[in-house]
Amino acid sequence: MEKILVIDDEPDILYAFQRSLETPERLVLTAGTIEQGLEVFRREKPDVVFCDIRIGPASGLDALTQIRQADPKAMVILITGYGTTQTAIEAMKRGAYDYVLKPLDVPKTKALVDAALKTARDMRQVISYEPLLQKEDYTEGIVGRSEAMQNVFKRIGQIAHSDATVLITGESGTGKGRDARDLYHHSPRADRVFMAINCAAIPEQLLESELFGHEKGAFTGADRKRIGKFEQCDGGTLFLDEIGDMPLLTQSKILRVLQNGEFQRVGGSQTLRADVRVIAATNKPLEQHVAARQFREDLYYRLNVVRIHLPPLRERREDIPVLADYFLQRLHKAGKSRIRGLAPDALRALQDYAWPGNVRELENVIQRSAILAKGGYILVGDLPPEVLVPPAASQARPAPAPTPMVDPVTDAIAVLFDHAKRHPDLQIIDWVERELVRRALELTHGNQVQAAKLLGMTRATLRKRIERFGIKKELSVK
Ligand SMILES: Nc1ncnc2c1ncn2[C@@H]1O[C@H](COP(=O)(O)OP(=O)(O)OP(=O)(O)O)[C@@H](O)[C@H]1O
Ligand SMILES: [Mg+2]
Repeated sequence: MEKILVIDDEPDILYAFQRSLETPERLVLTAGTIEQGLEVFRREKPDVVFCDIRIGPASGLDALTQIRQADPKAMVILITGYGTTQTAIEAMKRGAYDYVLKPLDVPKTKALVDAALKTARDMRQVISYEPLLQKEDYTEGIVGRSEAMQNVFKRIGQIAHSDATVLITGESGTGKGRDARDLYHHSPRADRVFMAINCAAIPEQLLESELFGHEKGAFTGADRKRIGKFEQCDGGTLFLDEIGDMPLLTQSKILRVLQNGEFQRVGGSQTLRADVRVIAATNKPLEQHVAARQFREDLYYRLNVVRIHLPPLRERREDIPVLADYFLQRLHKAGKSRIRGLAPDALRALQDYAWPGNVRELENVIQRSAILAKGGYILVGDLPPEVLVPPAASQARPAPAPTPMVDPVTDAIAVLFDHAKRHPDLQIIDWVERELVRRALELTHGNQVQAAKLLGMTRATLRKRIERFGIKKELSVK
């Protein structure tokens, strides 16, 4: 259950938060004074705290400081009226996550809570990179048995203790985001903030102000000063996801921060400093982007000093069974599935598939199949059809024969039994064997060598069957 604490002396505001943010999975706790708020904070350990900047005579800034002292990773969002933006800015410098204005803009506040909860989860979720030792107990972790992944684990271990900038590369869905969080959890900055920013998801004009902040009036719509992620992350870790999609101009500013820790807010002239460890990731071939002058060469070299490359899943197929097992266990633990495992042919199909979407795709396939599967195991027929017909384009090895959706034997048996029910005198085994021999001879135009091969028996055995069943000569001439 996620918990949100709102500290405000106006009952209307408390009520508005409760009404708009509470869900069955999300509890909204309230407090009317700072003392009460701190008490609830210590007792309930909420994931996100909203705190009014002025509560009667008391200052929300003091509350912020005390909350952050109690827990340096606490996500505190300040509530402020229009006139007090300057105080809000000060508060952000002291470690507030963000601020909201009164009256409450419900959709914006909801989005902010989602983002804050995600950031809180990133910071709290302890990820272990121990290679799997026991099958039973791996709730969270980077899973992988392959040599490639073992090397990734070692590399994370080697570099986690440094402050070096790290570049994580690999196709989409290979686990770059997960690895970045893992690095953070094993770094000396694990007790400081971690924030992620997806450079591809933010429009070019906004990215720079998101990263470095802006001054009031810096551009149309910049009606308030804003603190950027670098300032917010001072002392902590910033994850620049999809850095390959960053515009060139922003790249040059990133290079400057990486080199000497300096930057300026958009529209500002003051040089600011921040001590931020940067982890960057991309699924783009940066070398090619450098050659095409879409990515700055100097930034590339600066980032590339420490690099972790995550190979595509099709190049580490040994990881497929453990990953599948891991995802099934996670569903099981979350009470979302009763599936105990995969039938051998289903697992074989998974191992033969090319996985263009890598681990993320595998995770989705396991989730979908676990919902569809009726028994305790995922059967080949429960897998989505695209997994069974490997996409030719992304083949790393010759395409295996597509596994039929429905097991043909099971299908045939159902038909046979149905037939047998209607013909009680039928000696079903003899009849089936006779039919198989007859059909094989028919298909091979009576060629006994070929027919025997088709039936998986020796030619001598075939001959005996022909005699026993009295199969007509014209069918077995050759
Ligand atoms: N080795 C792994 N062990 C366990 N789970 C993994 C592993 N690799 C990836 N995952 C899971 O697969 C999903 C995709 O991983 P992630 O988001 O880190 O990929 P990505 O490389 O950042 O992809 P994109 O380039 O699309 O952002 C996540 O749910 C992640 O938890
Ligand atoms: Mg990612």
